[in-house]
Amino acid sequence: MPLNIIVGAQWGDEGKGRITDVLAAEAAYVARYSGGDNAGHTLTVGREIFKLHLIPSGIVQPGVVCVIGNGVVVNPTVLLREIDELATRGVAVTPQRLKLDLKAHLITPAHVRLDGSAESQRGAQAIGTTQRGIGPAYSDKAARSGLRAQLLAHPDALTEALRAHLTEKNRLLQDIYHAEPLDSAAIIAQYTAYAQRLGPYLADTSLLLHRALSQGQTVLAEGAQGTLLDLEQGTYPFVTSSYPTASGALLGLGLGPRHIGRILGVAKAFSSRVGAGPMPTELHGEAAVRLRGSGANPWDEFGTTTGRPRRVGWLDAVVLRYAARINGLTELALTKLDILSGLTEIPVCVAYAAAGEQVEEFSADSATLAACTPVYHSCPGWQENITGARHWTELPTAARAYVRAVADLSGVPISLVSVGPGRDQLVAVPPTA
Ligand code: IMP
Repeated sequence: MPLNIIVGAQWGDEGKGRITDVLAAEAAYVARYSGGDNAGHTLTVGREIFKLHLIPSGIVQPGVVCVIGNGVVVNPTVLLREIDELATRGVAVTPQRLKLDLKAHLITPAHVRLDGSAESQRGAQAIGTTQRGIGPAYSDKAARSGLRAQLLAHPDALTEALRAHLTEKNRLLQDIYHAEPLDSAAIIAQYTAYAQRLGPYLADTSLLLHRALSQGQTVLAEGAQGTLLDLEQGTYPFVTSSYPTASGALLGLGLGPRHIGRILGVAKAFSSRVGAGPMPTELHGEAAVRLRGSGANPWDEFGTTTGRPRRVGWLDAVVLRYAARINGLTELALTKLDILSGLTEIPVCVAYAAAGEQVEEFSADSATLAACTPVYHSCPGWQENITGARHWTELPTAARAYVRAVADLSGVPISLVSVGPGRDQLVAVPPTA
């Protein structure tokens, strides 16, 4: 049985967690492959709302083993907090249910402090990071000075590595950023205590997943962030520091492409983005508030990790075509279709206009992209409340036409549509739709 990959087809926050939650029911393993606690996955199970940043969404499915792969950067404070919070809500996150890869890298308080300092120094050019230390931790990994999770099994080596790390970072903080140094002794004591608790979760997860796949089990790779935030393929430099795309799943889990089955892109029925960088279909004023919501509902467009209002806009089919190409998508899931109910017309961006020409493809050149304006095709809206729909035929004709238009424009079949946050608020799209 295959490796199925779930990726964000836009700028993150597409609702991947809930799609993962559904597909996890058929998987033996659910594995996070990139990013860290910059991600925020909101899951609604009955009346319970779970907000997870590091632990894969599959944890709420009994019997599923969750993996934090080598491509993830792990803040142990956050990981232990999530383990404890889930325990208080009746989900026991034992070392049998959660495996932390030996090669994953650790985030320290120095990475977090440096993230904030670097953002302040960027001034008007700030990326709008989540300030979780993600960029500095991946920078250390690339510079070959990172701290790998395997140190948690070796207390003396952990102490030595932390001491060297904190000495270097304190120098940076003081000399370059004129910031307060961190208390090295306190951090070493804290991480030594973490090692005691996290040691039993360590595993060679590449080997574990390879064996599972070879035995015919299904592995679900759960992406974080989205295609346009990919370090290689996104809107650089306004990107995260890892690989949220499908290739990142292979790299971040230590698996080859041979096992891949489905590559499911998750796209919101409109667009959203947190942080700075190009977003051709961005809306402002009343139109933006209509899509974003006021913040009163858990599903309104405010960051799960930072609480920031998200930038919002109409659906961008140029972005979806790009995501289809970069990830090799086999299908799309379209989320939050219910938010569009009540609109008379729904514009969809079908191409860009740049320098008097129509551009069909997402530009690799950032100056061209910055100059692009959206070319819209207008789809008829629907007035019905669709949150109760469970079958394709229960959706209004105009809603079905919108879904078909998005599939045609992106060149990828749509297999699932979500009409609300609840676990059952999903509509399977028949292949012949
Ligand atoms: P970082 O990942 O914290 O370094 O942030 C880099 C960029 O990625 C910023 O624009 C963030 O807002 C964005 N970003 C990181 N994680 C997420 C996410 O889970 N959803 C949406 N945007 C994210």
